[in-house]
Amino acid sequence: MTDFEAAKAEAQRRGVGGYERHILLCIGPDCCTPEQGEDSWKYLKKRAAEINRSGDTATTFYRTKVGCLRICKEGPVGLVYPEGTWYAGLDRAGLERVLVEHVLGGVPVEDLAIGANPFPAAPEA
Ligand code: FES
Repeated sequence: MTDFEAAKAEAQRRGVGGYERHILLCIGPDCCTPEQGEDSWKYLKKRAAEINRSGDTATTFYRTKVGCLRICKEGPVGLVYPEGTWYAGLDRAGLERVLVEHVLGGVPVEDLAIGANPFPAAPEA
């Protein structure tokens, strides 16, 4: 198996192609301390596992840790696609609201949102 084939198999194993939303979370160090970023990331991983494996919802989502989203204030900063909603203040309480209201409920959390950048719909592949 080539590295390309291995990468493709890993993407398939991770469910790429079946997600309805993607949340990216910055773990600092400039928008929040590394400790705050790590705490939010651990919480997001735990909740993602619970939600994605629960079978209680049809929504599944992917989560990705990133180094900087170039906002660098009031973090942890994050964003949710496909809506392209950018958020600040994603501590555990903020993340929980984003997960319940936006990721699962489909409604962006206005009072935590700092911007929106929805992408045009992708053509069918
Ligand atoms: S360090 Fe988080 S947005 Fe820059």
